Amino acid sequence: MFEGTKRKLKERILLFPESNSPTFDDPGKFNSEEVKLDWPKEIKRPYVGLTQDCNAVPYWTKYALFLEKNGFSYSIFEHHRSDWIEQASKFDTIIWSPKDGPFEMDDIKRKVYILEKKLGKICFPDYETLLLCDDKIFSTYLLRINNLPIADTFISNDYKESHRMINRFSYPLVSKGSFGAGSKEVTLVTKPSDAKRIVRKVFSIYGKRTHLKYMRQKNSIYFQRFLKGDSLDTRVNVIGNMIFGYYRKPRGNDFRASGSGIVIKEDLPIEAIKIALETYSKIGKAMLGVDMLKDENGKYWIIEISPFIYVRTPEQLKVNGVAGAYSLQDDGTLLFEEKSFWPQQLALKVFFEQNYLSSVEEWKAKFLEPGLSNSFLLKC
Ligand SMILES: Nc1ncnc2c1ncn2[C@@H]1O[C@H](COP(=O)(O)OP(=O)(O)O)[C@@H](O)[C@H]1O
Ligand SMILES: [Mg+2]
Repeated sequence: MFEGTKRKLKERILLFPESNSPTFDDPGKFNSEEVKLDWPKEIKRPYVGLTQDCNAVPYWTKYALFLEKNGFSYSIFEHHRSDWIEQASKFDTIIWSPKDGPFEMDDIKRKVYILEKKLGKICFPDYETLLLCDDKIFSTYLLRINNLPIADTFISNDYKESHRMINRFSYPLVSKGSFGAGSKEVTLVTKPSDAKRIVRKVFSIYGKRTHLKYMRQKNSIYFQRFLKGDSLDTRVNVIGNMIFGYYRKPRGNDFRASGSGIVIKEDLPIEAIKIALETYSKIGKAMLGVDMLKDENGKYWIIEISPFIYVRTPEQLKVNGVAGAYSLQDDGTLLFEEKSFWPQQLALKVFFEQNYLSSVEEWKAKFLEPGLSNSFLLKC
């Protein structure tokens, strides 16, 4: 029997514990640039605790390689164990690799809060960034108060209000759960009776079922304007002043591109890059992925942001078939560089720069704001 099928049978039918053993890979075998950090001699390097994740393509292996290449001492931090506070006491900085799934995020958030706010440790990602992970409601509020172009969204925890709105919305709409990836909690709402059904389920005593058997969508409605542009998701990833990205296309008649597996690596539109950079500058720290869709008039709207970028290979953006990345220059030029990086390693570099060599604000004022104050030119 295949390993995967055997595991599913054990975990789902025989109720064996779900595996959370770390996954391994060799990031060095891909064709990627080494990410180097200039560390002044007079500043002491922190001692790093590294958590291991069990994502199919792990993050922690890329962090480990970065730490080794840049002369940081580290050891593995086994945060699931009961003695996590005692273990953490020897570290200055702790690196986490969030995995999708609300139970894992809850655990990490609690621990990062205690470590960062109460015990004075520096965490990557920090608590504020973690609040954005896998939480569309929180992200939408933050995008809104920063006047960023999030697609028109109705979020309510009030049954009477949600019910009253059913006949006032224009259809179709897109309904989303606050957590979830790969479109698993995203559905099309074509008419008022669909919306009514969702509202009734969500506000029922059990809440609405989700793809996770242990979670329900309870007492929170998330309806978003359906964007009928070219049905192509534009993803722009920003890390420091580096910009990558790609497009995703839905499969068959589905309107949802996330999770379809169809990725198109081509040059990115300047308007989308601009929105992503503004979003990163206002609410991002080390890295931010910004997903956008076009409306009928060709205007880009944000549909989701992710402070953690899931990547399989260091090859992200391609311009005329050549893999590389743009870097934002002080004069507003986007310079295409034929270099591929592991985004996790670039993010770690930015994290150390923003936490040990300057503040986030100083970092942005130096590397981002001069470029952002210009209107862009695209240069290959
Ligand atoms: N407002 C929208 N209008 C049209 N399509 C949308 C809208 N929001 C999401 N989609 C489609 O559904 C997919 C999944 O939605 P998204 O919010 O990105 O959730 P997930 O977290 O599952 O990726 C997107 O990749 C996009 O193709
Ligand atoms: Mg998405």
